[in-house]
Amino acid sequence: MCIRDRQYNVKTYNDVNEMLDNEEIDAVSIATPDAFHMDPALAAIRHGKPILVEKPLATTSEDAKKILAEAEKYNVRVAVDYHKRWDPAAINVRNELQNEESGAPIRGYMCMDDIIDVPTEWFNWADKSSPVHFLGTHCYDQVRWYMGCEVEEVYAVGTKKVLKARGVDTYDSIQATLKMENGCYWTVENSWILPKGFAKNNDGRTQILCENAMFRIDSQNRGVEIYNNSKLRTPNSYFILNNCGRPSGFGIEPINDFIYCLQNDLPFIADGNDGLQAELIAEAVHESLEKGVAVKLKRD
Ligand SMILES: NC(=O)c1ccc[n+]([C@@H]2O[C@H](COP(=O)([O-])OP(=O)(O)OC[C@H]3O[C@@H](n4cnc5c(N)ncnc54)[C@H](O)[C@@H]3O)[C@@H](O)[C@H]2O)c1
Repeated sequence: MCIRDRQYNVKTYNDVNEMLDNEEIDAVSIATPDAFHMDPALAAIRHGKPILVEKPLATTSEDAKKILAEAEKYNVRVAVDYHKRWDPAAINVRNELQNEESGAPIRGYMCMDDIIDVPTEWFNWADKSSPVHFLGTHCYDQVRWYMGCEVEEVYAVGTKKVLKARGVDTYDSIQATLKMENGCYWTVENSWILPKGFAKNNDGRTQILCENAMFRIDSQNRGVEIYNNSKLRTPNSYFILNNCGRPSGFGIEPINDFIYCLQNDLPFIADGNDGLQAELIAEAVHESLEKGVAVKLKRD
């Protein structure tokens, strides 16, 4: 019996197919590292199980398309955990964007960054991902969701310096410009090197300028400040909050909603195609970074 068997009182497996063959399972949540979502996803689909895949759906569009093609073949539904679609602040802004009085969006800015511990201490797989796959796909999905249209073209610049010197061969920071089908331009910035002293593990900001309105969200100012003798902490109370052992918040809601949509036969709030579109943008951003030119989105 391994430690997790004892901690959670469940039987665990090292082989996903063995688990799927031996257990009565209604649905599967896939939370392997970014680059390793495809194999367990295909295994679950081939056993006819609906899946909730942690973002990103995959780190190549080829893998993402394989997952979606197999899901179609086996008539299995795919959801992707883009949890920002459950963030109350983001839902509020999206509702306002849909209010005709706001006018058309003209310009958008979004950043989402992590402290340097994430790629250097939390994961041993950061070099197989990047701030674009890990954080950028959250933003690209949210931009599509806010705008209600697709990205046409991207141009990106980025730096590989700090993490490379620490033996992690991936980007420190990337700035991408996204040209949207509705004529709005977005700047999306993602970094994995916020200083260790930052008051929480990540930071995020959004600003959208419309013809008649402007919206701002700041994930750093969500109303709680905790001081001790060494550091200020600013936890995001909307994300995951433990209330007497019952967790809630937009870190948990996508999982509850996945089950709710399955039980009630409702469309998922973020589905497999959303996962593919975010990955196509991520791939175009990486291509632009490597070639130094603007890249048009390639959709079949
Ligand atoms: N929805 C979100 O906002 C959100 C938040 C954090 C992480 N994530 C995503 O969840 C996934 C997991 O992140 P994490 O923070 O839990 O990472 P982690 O490294 O803490 O955990 C990954 C787990 O997968 C196991 N594993 C490693 N390689 C495997 C393989 N080839 N097959 C099966 N299992 C394997 C590891 O033993 C570990 O238990 C990532 O894709 C990450 O981007 C999503």
